[in-house]
Order: sequence, then C-alpha cells, then structure tokens
Amino acid sequence: MTSSSPSPVHTIEDYSPCLWVTPKVHLRFELDPHLTVVRAEYEVSFLGDTLSPLFLNGENLEFLSLRLNGTVVDPSEFEITPSGITIFNPPSREFQLTIENRICPSENTSLEGLYQSGSMLCTQNEPEGFRKIVYSIDRPDNMMRFFVTLAGDPKYFPVMLSNGNLIKEFGLSDGKKEVIWEDPFPKPTYLFALVAGDLVETNDHFTTKSGRRVELKIFVEKGNEEKVSFAFDSLKKAMKWDEDTFGLEYDLDLFMIVAVEDFNMGAMENKGLNLFNAKLVLADKKSATDETFESILAVIGHEYFHNWTGNRVTLRNWFNLTLKEGLTVFRDQWFTEDMTDPSVKRIKDILFLKEHQFPEDQGPMAHPIVPKSYTEMNNFYTVTVYEKGAEVIRLVSEILGRETFKKGLELYLNHYDGMGVTFEEFVSSMEEAYGKPILYLRNWYHRSGTPMIDIKKHFDPKEKEWVFTIQDTKPDPYPLIFVNSYAAFDAKGNLIAEGKRIQEGAVDEIRLKTKDGNLSEPIVSFFRGLSSPVLFDAPMTKEEMRILAEQEPDGVSRFFSFQNLIFLWINESIRKGTSSDTLSDILETLRFSFQKNWDKTYFSFYLLFPSLTQISEHLQFYDFPKLETLRKFAITEISKTFTKEFQILYEENRKTIPVQTKEEIGKRRLKNAALYYLLYDPSRNFERLAVTQQREAKHMSEEIAPLRYLIELDSKEKDSAVTHFYDRWKEDSLVLDVWFAAQVATGRNRANDVITLEQHKKFNKKNPNKVRSLYFSFARNPLSFHDVTGSGYKLIADRIKELNGLNPQIAAGLTKLFSSASKQEGELPKIAKRELEEIQNLPNLSKDLGEVVEKIIKSL
Ligand code: TRP
Ligand code: ZN
Repeated sequence: MTSSSPSPVHTIEDYSPCLWVTPKVHLRFELDPHLTVVRAEYEVSFLGDTLSPLFLNGENLEFLSLRLNGTVVDPSEFEITPSGITIFNPPSREFQLTIENRICPSENTSLEGLYQSGSMLCTQNEPEGFRKIVYSIDRPDNMMRFFVTLAGDPKYFPVMLSNGNLIKEFGLSDGKKEVIWEDPFPKPTYLFALVAGDLVETNDHFTTKSGRRVELKIFVEKGNEEKVSFAFDSLKKAMKWDEDTFGLEYDLDLFMIVAVEDFNMGAMENKGLNLFNAKLVLADKKSATDETFESILAVIGHEYFHNWTGNRVTLRNWFNLTLKEGLTVFRDQWFTEDMTDPSVKRIKDILFLKEHQFPEDQGPMAHPIVPKSYTEMNNFYTVTVYEKGAEVIRLVSEILGRETFKKGLELYLNHYDGMGVTFEEFVSSMEEAYGKPILYLRNWYHRSGTPMIDIKKHFDPKEKEWVFTIQDTKPDPYPLIFVNSYAAFDAKGNLIAEGKRIQEGAVDEIRLKTKDGNLSEPIVSFFRGLSSPVLFDAPMTKEEMRILAEQEPDGVSRFFSFQNLIFLWINESIRKGTSSDTLSDILETLRFSFQKNWDKTYFSFYLLFPSLTQISEHLQFYDFPKLETLRKFAITEISKTFTKEFQILYEENRKTIPVQTKEEIGKRRLKNAALYYLLYDPSRNFERLAVTQQREAKHMSEEIAPLRYLIELDSKEKDSAVTHFYDRWKEDSLVLDVWFAAQVATGRNRANDVITLEQHKKFNKKNPNKVRSLYFSFARNPLSFHDVTGSGYKLIADRIKELNGLNPQIAAGLTKLFSSASKQEGELPKIAKRELEEIQNLPNLSKDLGEVVEKIIKSL
C-alpha cells in the first residue's frame, strides 16, 4: 500500500490541557456560495509557563493574511501545512491575532464546515468542522465568546443567523446587508453555527417558569411552512419537561431551529440555533408516519436538552463524548417515556440496543464508551457512546433512585457550569448526591463488550431457600456494578417475591425463601426492564418461559419473555432440522394474549414477529435463507391459526382518525400488525385489503405499511402499489426517501433494484438521506446484502468508493455495515475482505474510511 503520511492516532493518555486559548473572537463572513471570505480576530492568551509556538487548526482553507496586534507578519515567522498554521514566536502571553482566509461552500460535499444545501449556506462543526471554516484552536476545551458579523446579498440571503442574540441589522452602501450576532455564553468551536438563505420564518413562543418570554423560530425552505406545528409542540413540551423534571430553564430569549435538506446526522445542538435534518422537523399527518412523529419529539427533545447537558456544561475532550451524549440520550428517553408510554418506549429502546449496540460491542468496531483512541472522531458517534452510554446513566439512576439522581444532576450542573469536564466529574457529582462512592461504576466507561451474565440455581436445604448465583463471566480487569431488578413467581404465575439487587463485582446471590414447606421452584424474571445492559442466560424451561410471557406484570419483561420463547423455537428447529413443537407454545401464548385487553401499541409490539436481523443476532446464527424459511413458516402458521382473530382485530381498528393521540397511534399499529399476518394467509385472500388500505389511507402510517408488506411478500400487487405510491408523492422528497427504502429493505436479490433506483431522477448521491434510504437500507437487508454470490458486498463496496470522495463520514458509516461479514457462512468473509482491501488501496482514501476499513479487515 502506498500511503503518504498516516493519519495521527489520538490517545487518551496523550491528552493535555490547552496552553494557548482564545477567550474571545470576532468573526466576519463575506458570504458567497463560491467564495466566502472569513476573518477571525482572536484575543489570544497563554496559560503555560514559558511561551511555546502557537498552532491553529485549518483544513482546506485558502490563506489570505495574518496580523499580530494589527501588524502584518512576515512569512518567515509562520508555517502553513495541510492541517494548520504554526506561529513560531508569539509576541507575548496576551495579544490580538487577526487571520483571514477564503473557502468555497458550494464545492464542500463533506457537509462539514460551511456548505451549501439547497438555497442556503449552513455549518456543521461538531466535532472538528470549524477548522474547515477558519484557522482556530479547534478543540472543546478552548471556549470563547463569539461576536459574529455576517455580510451578504439580501437577494440570496434575506435571512442570516448565528448563535445568541441578534444585535444589529443594516444595509450597506453596495446593496449588501450586514447582520451582527452575539452569544453571551462562552462556548467551544463545535457549537458555533451560521445559516444564511432565502428561508421562511415561522414563529411561536414559550413562557418560562420564571415568566420570561422566549421567542421560538423554525426556519424552513419555501413551501414547508405548513409542516412545523408538531415540531413547535414538541419543543414546548421539551422546555416544560426540563423545567418540571430538573428545574432547568432556557437561558436566552430566542431559540431557533433550521430544517436542512442535506445533513449527515439527525440534528445538532448549536447554542440557540439548532440545525436539523429536515426529516426530523417537517411533518404532517399525510406525509409522516407515527414513527417519524415520535422521532421528531425525541430529537427535538434531545437537542434542546443539550442546552444544559452539553452546552452549559461541555466536554474537555472528545474521548468524553458520552458525557454529553449518553446523558442526553437518557434524558430524551425519559422525556419520551413521560410523553408517551413508558413500557412501550422501553421496549423500543431495548430492541434498538440489542439490534445495534450489542453487535457493535461484539464486533470489530467494539470500543469502551470512553474510547482509548481514535483517528477520526466522526467514527465515534456510535451506538456504544450514545445508547450504551445512556444505559449506564440509567443504571446510575436505578442505583440512586430518580429523586437522588435529579439532585446529582443539579450538583453537576451548578458545579461545572461554563466548564469543559469529563465523565469523572459527572460520576463524582452523583456520588456526592448519593452520599457514598459507587463502587466499580467507572469501569463501565473503560470496559468494552456486552457483559455476559451466567445465572445458576440450586436449593439450600438447610435454609430452605432457592439460591440463584449471578455471575459476570469476564470481570477482569474491569469488575462492574449491576442493578438486577427481579421478580419471582410460582407455577401458577402468582408473584411471590420482588426486589432490586445491587451487585458489586463478579458474583451475587439472590435467595428466595420458600413459603413454609412449599418447595416448588420459583420462576424468576431477571434484569426486568433490562435494568443493566447485559446479556444473561437464566435456566428456564419452555413452560416457565410461557408463564413469564403471559403473567409477568412488568410489560417489558413479559414482552421479552415472549421473544425468548420465539428464539427458543427457532433454535430448536435449527438443531433438530425440523420445526419444533415449541410453536404450539407460541400459539397458545398468542391465544392467551388475544383475550387480554393490553394497551394497543403494546399489543402491536407483542404481536410483531422478530426480524431476520434480530433473530440472527440473538442466536448468533447467520444462515439467512434458512432463517427466512423458518420465520415464514412460523408467521404462516400464526396467520392460519388466528385468521379470525386478525380479521376481527383489523375490523375493530379499521377506522382511525389521523391525529397523534395514543389511541389512534395504537389503532394504526394494531391494524397494520393484523394486516401483516393476514397477508401471510396461504390463500392470499387479503392482498386486496392491503391495496385498499394503501389507496384510502388518511395517514402515512396506514399508507406505507401495506406497501412494505406487499414488497416483502413479492406480491403480484407489488408493482402497482409502488407506482401508485410514487405518483402520489413524487413531489415530496422526504416521502420519497421512505419509498426508496421500502423497495430494498426486505426480500432477496434487491441489488438489481438498487441499480435501477439509483438511476431514478429523484435519487441523489450527494444527499445523505437518499444514500441512507437506498444503500444503507439495502445493506441492512440481510437476505440481499449477504447474498451468497457476494453481489451485495460488491455493490456496496463500489458505492463506498464513490462516496469516499464525496462524503467521507457517510462512506465510513456505510462501511461499518460490513462488520457482520466475518460471521457469515461460506465464501462471504473472504469476498468481503477482498472488497475492503480494494477500498483500502484507493489513492485518496479518507481518514474516516481508512480507520474503519482497517479495523474490519482485521476481523476477516
Ligand atoms: N451532537 C449531535 C447530537 O445531538 C450529533 C452530531 C455529531 C452531528 N456530529 C454531527 C449532527 C454531524 C450532525 C452532523 O447527537
Ligand atoms: Zn446529542
């Protein structure tokens, strides 16, 4: 391999505090999509002992000029490299530095730094995008007051925004407009934002608990102004919830959100000026699914909550990303639990964790939630940092109890307001509230991999107790603390004991006294609600599993017990080579569930048969064609057994009102679940029902589900359903994302569909939402991606090569989907390796991609 200079690896041991800082900056932008001039005027300050050279980061910048204390600097006094500028002999401990450069936003397809999206210019600076805008000390422990002047042609940029408060707006003699923004709160570069464009402003307001009026504004591209009301409602709910739950009030008089079409991730918490992927702001009942509405609520909450956990108290370095992300995900999960249904929300979060985080933690990209090293920080915005990080915070809240946890957070925010800290400061605040140390908690931040917990039972005749031994199978060198919420039942399903054990270290015991002389074995439900993010194996018979799947009063554990019964059936069927009789247990439990009057949304989850990916991850079995045969067999049996029940369920929930209430969402979900099973009826009698539902739908959740099901089944109605949907939605780019995705997300041999669809005039490789819809959806479809011929790998590898030059962050994200290749059957690991090695040999390989490819190749 011919690689010029390898990218530096940043390790946690190498971290040292900033010696040079810039507490204040005046930024001036002459905005133009093709050539924007940026000038930064820093107040520079030295914090060390003896003066050292000053380095400013800067990438892809065209240098114009440098002045120190107003005087132009001789070129011999500094050096410019592709990563920045070094000033050899700074004049004193404090001075003024003015530096000017030019950039070209319209050619920036990485969507990091200042770039063009549609008719607007906007920024993305987390984690290290600011250095692509202007020379700067671009690290989170360098915090500064920002004073920002934006100058531009009002014809193209009637709206010009930045963080904080609008100070002045005036016309210039040359017809240009100038706007001045000032942010009173010091912040690191990654929280800086700028937006300029011909945008429509929509308005609302919120009155804080202390009676202050906050103006709320959402900016959208023309034509989308009718799609913001749900986002405003979500924002007001989030603001109120943070006041009610944590006493946290918003701290500026203005809060702005901008909806951006081309966006690498979900959303970004820039101070006072959140930028959002348009798909997480814009929604109306016709074009958005119930899932989209819930994502909008959660992400608006998430970014808003960052104002305290992330912005007011920020990070010392990127290793501690989980300090703001894990904590803020935990806060947004709690928020959604309060706004919707706690059990259903917890089920969704656990399913997500198991489907995405557990595999990451056991694959080539595994890392502790505080990583030890990184080459490209963008690669560490992972489900481990976010979701496992949130699980550890949840663990803390379970150990302390939610009220004490609130106190801990209050201590943390009071103590470290305005500072950049690490997870250690968070933990110590929690310990302060708790009144004692939390043993082994810190190890959760350093140990990678999902803890495997082994549970064994025996009877202690002397004490007349059943003893359960709970053991962490790999405690060294990082023993952990666990919360184990459990409940014990008798053979009839009556609750006989309940508790919450805090396990410090490798082993714990749960002892259950038998009621006088009654020695019957208790059935125990462990880690209820997944009270610790672990995989556990408890000794249990089918019959016992069934009791929990039916009787466990905790809905979350009841749900997962039923899932386990399904996994057990699949496992036995694989082992015996024939479908095992456990299916009758599944059918009996389903029969039982039909008689219950469970919450509609809850029941719809209970009815959902696990996906191929969920099954394979759970069983560590990757013969997808075989799993598909088994899965289809089971679904068909369920369908045949309960045709009547599903018909009734469908009818009962047929009429829905297109509003976002718990009742109507539940009805739509149940109706779709019933339709899914009915479509598997061998008579194929119900396809008309699907077609009719799609055509008469008043809500996107009713419209998209039949389309997805007809595609999954390769129904004869599929093509006309696809065309019909397109004709109705061809002008709505966000709905087309869903349409693209649906066509490749299920079924075999979708590689050809990808090749056809990427030629479609509405497809665009430069738009991450489109790339996610087509390439990511395809690569998450195991039947197609892991096709034995390797056609899926070849297709995705070729697309990664193209994306490497366009958008390295997205290219690296797509590459991560090769992580499961090493577990596949036959030639597949070898084929994957060959494809990835070709990528590795690209002449212009980005550091994002280089880091990921290298790790995955090592696993192959
Ligand atoms: N901090 C963002 C969040 O709330 C995530 C983020 C990181 C991001 N990098 C980004 C968003 C790049 C958009 C683009 O989780
Ligand atoms: Zn976040």
